[in-house]
Amino acid sequence: MTESTTILMAAPMQGYTEAVWRNAHAEVYGCGEYVEYFSPFMRVEKGDARMRDMRDALSPLNSNHKLTPQIIFRDAEEFRLLLNAATEAGHMAVDLNLGCPFPPQCKRGRGAAMVANCKVMEEVAEIINTTSGIQFSVKMRPGLASPDEWRTTMPIINGMRLSHLTIHPRTARQQYGGEVLMDIFTDMLEASCHPVVFNGDISSPADIDRLLSAYPTLRGVMAGRGLLGRPSLFAEWHEGGQWTDSEKLDAVMKMHRLIFGHYCETLCGDTQILSKIKPFWEYLEPAIGRKRWKAIHKATGLQSYSKAISDIS
Ligand SMILES: Cc1cc2nc3c(=O)[nH]c(=O)nc-3n(C[C@H](O)[C@H](O)[C@H](O)COP(=O)(O)O)c2cc1C
Repeated sequence: MTESTTILMAAPMQGYTEAVWRNAHAEVYGCGEYVEYFSPFMRVEKGDARMRDMRDALSPLNSNHKLTPQIIFRDAEEFRLLLNAATEAGHMAVDLNLGCPFPPQCKRGRGAAMVANCKVMEEVAEIINTTSGIQFSVKMRPGLASPDEWRTTMPIINGMRLSHLTIHPRTARQQYGGEVLMDIFTDMLEASCHPVVFNGDISSPADIDRLLSAYPTLRGVMAGRGLLGRPSLFAEWHEGGQWTDSEKLDAVMKMHRLIFGHYCETLCGDTQILSKIKPFWEYLEPAIGRKRWKAIHKATGLQSYSKAISDIS
């Protein structure tokens, strides 16, 4: 293991890794110091940074972890607007989304559609290279439809002043399933002038070790669904030993208490609270078992929800 130099990153996940989740995660797993968290992408809505994204960027819950807001843009104007919004919210690092496969974003030229857009990327590179005091990074897929699209913009990305480049080696067309294109990842790693972070299907400490031995130059690893399903993933790897199932479950329940408590204090009514808390369990079925997981999903009010939760611990 090259623990001291490997950076562990919590992936941006719309609807999951907002400030409340990040805060509870950093608190329960004590990893605010050694994990870097990325916000779900900020976007433009009605000509301004979306209010919900600004609330996340400004949240006092961000105080216990290192946060980089991520932005998604279709042109240099949106890029500038969101960069200003992120820095006005007090952030000194910004991550660029060149990977979102969501059709409503890609159709408008954002996310993975930006991978082959040399014109906008050149304009963005110019802004990045003339903006001092802000740390930039890029999170990308190899392409929208073809795994070779990255070849057109890699020279531009190489010319940007970046801290690192995160690569999820699936095309947008593959969404989040199917084969992770490791050969393409190897080519991208070799072509990148920037330190590279691997992202995709990491779900155990052994997965991290395997990646680091296969790619000794890797700067770090980023986990999304694997971290939601096993929130102790980075803590276990950092400590160098796997936790027992009961240790893992205890910590998950602690994290749940914090998040559920926050929603009960700040939201109104069963429907609103349930719609925010249920995603917490989405990837945790293996940790709590199918029966309990289904009971949570079926809960229609706080009473049936609390009963489903009390059956876990
Ligand atoms: C529900 C969902 C929401 C996501 N939201 C974002 C996002 O806002 N920004 C981003 O760059 N990637 C987003 N992703 C992609 C993840 O960050 C990550 O790249 C992808 O899930 C692959 O990594 P994993 O296998 O570790 O989950 C999202 C993925 C999912 C499934």
